[in-house]
Amino acid sequence: MRLTLYDLRRLAGERKLATLTCYDASFAAVLDAAEVDMLLIGDSLGMVIQGHDSTLPVTVADVAYHTRAVVRGAPRPWIVADMPFGSYQQSPQQALANAVALMQAGAQMVKLEGGAEMAATIKFLVQRGVPVCGHVGLTPQHVNAFGGYRVQGRGSGAEAVRQAAAAVEDAGAAMLVIEAVPEPVASAIAAQSRSLTIGIGASADCHGQVLVLHDMLGAGLGKRPRFVRNFLEGTGSIPAAVRSYVAEVRAGRFPAAENVYPEMP
Ligand code: KIV
Repeated sequence: MRLTLYDLRRLAGERKLATLTCYDASFAAVLDAAEVDMLLIGDSLGMVIQGHDSTLPVTVADVAYHTRAVVRGAPRPWIVADMPFGSYQQSPQQALANAVALMQAGAQMVKLEGGAEMAATIKFLVQRGVPVCGHVGLTPQHVNAFGGYRVQGRGSGAEAVRQAAAAVEDAGAAMLVIEAVPEPVASAIAAQSRSLTIGIGASADCHGQVLVLHDMLGAGLGKRPRFVRNFLEGTGSIPAAVRSYVAEVRAGRFPAAENVYPEMP
């Protein structure tokens, strides 16, 4: 039986939630067998699958294609599909049309990046039956505006991340990815949040964690970010690596101090 939002909220009261990105049926089956709670068909596929240097070239058709494959391979986890750059920023109506395409491909929730500027769109989607996951902090679709993949929310920037999280939550997002922000900032957001917070380079205090699958198997391209641990090292097989990730996340042992960002570098 596929997990529901109700199940995830209940589980989050008992332990941390383990999420991984996934893009195909074979890996989906491995992740399902290891009882990963949520699979994210991330627009990171533009980088790890397609070889681009950002997520920007990814299309709705790309995410829908990979979502269909993942759903076939994994009957248990909650399925979240990323809304690609340009597929939701124009209007709530544009966002709804593209969210429908992703849900018809098998997603149960869509994820989009941004803060207060996306609130009306999130509300519009939620009121029409589309569960939404927000994404604040380092939002990779803003790489050109940020001038690179940089930690967000340091010093006076913390308030902007806090406000973005509050706006997304108030608009009705049931879940919130917090990426690459100082640990104390992420921890404070998680403590106050009514949404399920999912951290990546954020805080062990979030309700759950997410990593890009290729990164946690040591197959990421480029420099390894601080928030990544290679779970294949020392475990010896992909299923064992995924089981280790699930166990470490559930127990709150991942991320460790070396996988999160201090207030000041
Ligand atoms: O696209 C993606 O993989 C993501 C995660 C890094 C959260 O958005």
